[in-house]
Amino acid sequence: MNIRVAEVSDIDVIYGLETKCFRDPYPRELLRMLQALYPQLFLVAEEGNRIIGYVSGLIRTDGFGHIVSICVDPEYRRRGVGRALMVALEKRMREIFGICMFRLEVRVSNTNAIKLYESLGYKIQLRIPRYYTDGEDAYLMIKDSC
Ligand SMILES: CC(C)(COP(=O)(O)OP(=O)(O)OC[C@H]1O[C@@H](n2cnc3c(N)ncnc32)[C@H](O)[C@@H]1OP(=O)(O)O)[C@@H](O)C(=O)NCCC(=O)NCCS
Repeated sequence: MNIRVAEVSDIDVIYGLETKCFRDPYPRELLRMLQALYPQLFLVAEEGNRIIGYVSGLIRTDGFGHIVSICVDPEYRRRGVGRALMVALEKRMREIFGICMFRLEVRVSNTNAIKLYESLGYKIQLRIPRYYTDGEDAYLMIKDSC
């Protein structure tokens, strides 16, 4: 498996993956915008020539690195791809932008993702009521590695 920065030409494939991962996928245009905003923080994982996962991040004005989205192809889950993408993104945020505080939101029902984040040192900070459009609450999770 190889992790690299996403290219504009990858966006269609990434959007296809997004629709496999989420019942409320980000629109293609939003993925393109995220890639344009922080190209160094939009990464894909590849197996051969096939894109099997992506992660997208941005830097907030309050100095937190924000993990906006992560998704691994269902056929390639539980093989360490999600963990590798998270580690690579945090490393880039640290090395390129000097960031050592990270945050993300996750559905309270998404136990697999919560386990992944906890294993990486993220802690639940607070519960945000009705964060998602379908009414589900989110956990705000924070990692302080300063
Ligand atoms: C969450 C997601 C990105 C994890 O990707 P992955 O490549 O399967 O994750 P990894 O193989 O790196 O797993 C890392 C750790 O996460 C936890 N984990 C991940 N999937 C799990 C599962 N199905 N059951 C239990 N624990 C799980 C485990 O602690 C695992 O470590 P271990 O395998 O050593 O026990 C993937 O399941 C996914 O794309 N889900 C749909 C999209 C999504 O929910 N994104 C997060 C939105 S906030």
